[in-house]
Amino acid sequence: MQHLVDTYDFTQIQIENLLQDATSFKAQYPPQLLKDKLLITLFFEASTRTRSSFEIAAKRLGASVVHLDPSKSSSKKGESLEDTFTNLCAMEPDGVIIRHTANNTPQILADMQMTSVINAGAGDYAHPTQALLDLFTIVEHFSLVNEPIEGKRIAIVGDIINSRVASSAIRLFTRMGMKVLLVAPKPFMPKSDLEQYQHVEDVIDNVDVIMSLRTQLERHNTVVFKDNDAYAKEYCINKERLGNRDILILHPGPVMRNIDISDEILADPRCKVLTQVKNGVFMRMAILKLLLLDAS
Ligand code: CP
Repeated sequence: MQHLVDTYDFTQIQIENLLQDATSFKAQYPPQLLKDKLLITLFFEASTRTRSSFEIAAKRLGASVVHLDPSKSSSKKGESLEDTFTNLCAMEPDGVIIRHTANNTPQILADMQMTSVINAGAGDYAHPTQALLDLFTIVEHFSLVNEPIEGKRIAIVGDIINSRVASSAIRLFTRMGMKVLLVAPKPFMPKSDLEQYQHVEDVIDNVDVIMSLRTQLERHNTVVFKDNDAYAKEYCINKERLGNRDILILHPGPVMRNIDISDEILADPRCKVLTQVKNGVFMRMAILKLLLLDAS
């Protein structure tokens, strides 16, 4: 039984196979490879993209999906997470896709070895499927000009310390040979050996990709910016800052318009936010195939 707690669960060959499968699924929908499989989605935090993307990916492959809404489940009556999970597993799903506020929840459930556990975002630690779909988007972009991603420079900009997307992305992108630069004010910067900068202007002439992150000012104990406009003045990816540079612009969503990225850049062909969302379905199809078919 294989799980996806973070991308370290996958070997290099598995990651290469995922990229190949996602590419071929995007070119042509595959047959219903998972038509006898059943997945449960269990999201303890809000989601627009990840939950619907997983459900669409599963259904595109012919699997059935049951969603349990924790706000209407017996966890409201005091049932523990482990008991909720054990009861769901008694109904013999082929996998549980979980999003949770605690960093270690997917690992705890995976260690119970009852069904394949897929992390759909945990605390500020890991969001592996986002990292993999972002990798797919970057590989796809550079393959159009026959360039490998090894050595490409990506700046992650914004509230890095609170971001599970950044956390998983840093681990995956460095492993894949990319050079990751962190751009944030000091209170938003995690402890890291990576190159660190305080201003977008410090790196803008020297990067191939910018990944902007959602500002989470509410999560900070100290006031760094008095409001979102003050943050945007320094970190918003806008036309003035980007100019005509050939830089791929990514954001995991939800995008705070004109705070993280300006309206104008969101509509610019260099910005691949909706391509990321589209690619997410194909990458999650590849992940479900790997976990439920190839590795089972
Ligand atoms: N990128 C992402 O995790 O979006 P959702 O929170 O909408 O799932």
